Amino acid sequence: MPSQPRDDRPYDRYESAGQAPGRDAREVADARERSRRRLAVALPVIGVLLAAAALVVGLVSGSPAAGGGPGGASDPATAEPRPAPTAAPPPASVDTFDRSARSLDDPTSTWVVVNKLRPMNPQDFEPDDLVEVPVAHTWEPLLRQEAADAVVAMFDAAAAEADLYLASNSAYRSYSAQEEVYDGDDETTARPGFSEHQTGLVMDIGAESGECSLAECFGETPEGIWLRDNAYRFGFILRYPADKRDVTGYTYEPWHFRYVGVELATEMRETGFTTLEEFFALPPAPDYG
Ligand code: DAL
Ligand code: ZN
Repeated sequence: MPSQPRDDRPYDRYESAGQAPGRDAREVADARERSRRRLAVALPVIGVLLAAAALVVGLVSGSPAAGGGPGGASDPATAEPRPAPTAAPPPASVDTFDRSARSLDDPTSTWVVVNKLRPMNPQDFEPDDLVEVPVAHTWEPLLRQEAADAVVAMFDAAAAEADLYLASNSAYRSYSAQEEVYDGDDETTARPGFSEHQTGLVMDIGAESGECSLAECFGETPEGIWLRDNAYRFGFILRYPADKRDVTGYTYEPWHFRYVGVELATEMRETGFTTLEEFFALPPAPDYG
């Protein structure tokens, strides 16, 4: 059986240390009483201070500036239960891209979609900012200024980064020029008034060497591979992918690049969309209506 109650232990240590020899019982009782009073006063004060400290810590850790939102620090012993954090926002490219930012119908829009169900409107549209594109070519190329600048930057990059030399085989084609190009094969050429070459935003690109010019094998050449992988950086998309004939209406054209701007080209690449029809949730256009 213990000889001393727990409250006496501090005094036991004091006495056993030999620092209060010769005190009588009255002195011992007084000392004990003073000790009890000090504890009686001190304990509530300490409790109040601890509670205040916990409150401060809780407020600081819960504030937005301290990262108290989802993923922020909290003390599980003192923090109030919080609502479960909401799901992390999707990548900015998916969340913030505005698909309605530009017209898909206006022929002057860099997002205009032209296919077998969406003819040029007006049929005889002609851009008012066509310029000659200063690049190697078989037929002198014209494009709208913005697309022309992008082509020059892309051809320069291919040469500087990969020692590859590109050339234009065809660019802007008027309604009447498309009449001459159309060969009756709806799988490979657009009818006049239905070709996006008429927008001034398209170039058929080949190797300056002419290897596999306007042929499917161009997609396997170093130039074709470089374009497939890098065109988006300059705002171009490969408009007629190999596996999308039922969406675009045309067979694989690894040479046909359509300017849509860097923002949209990058967004399509990052989200995995390879056709304008699918990206903008437009009806597929395998055939003329
Ligand atoms: N070759 C593409 C489809 C055109 O004629 O516009
Ligand atoms: Zn083309």
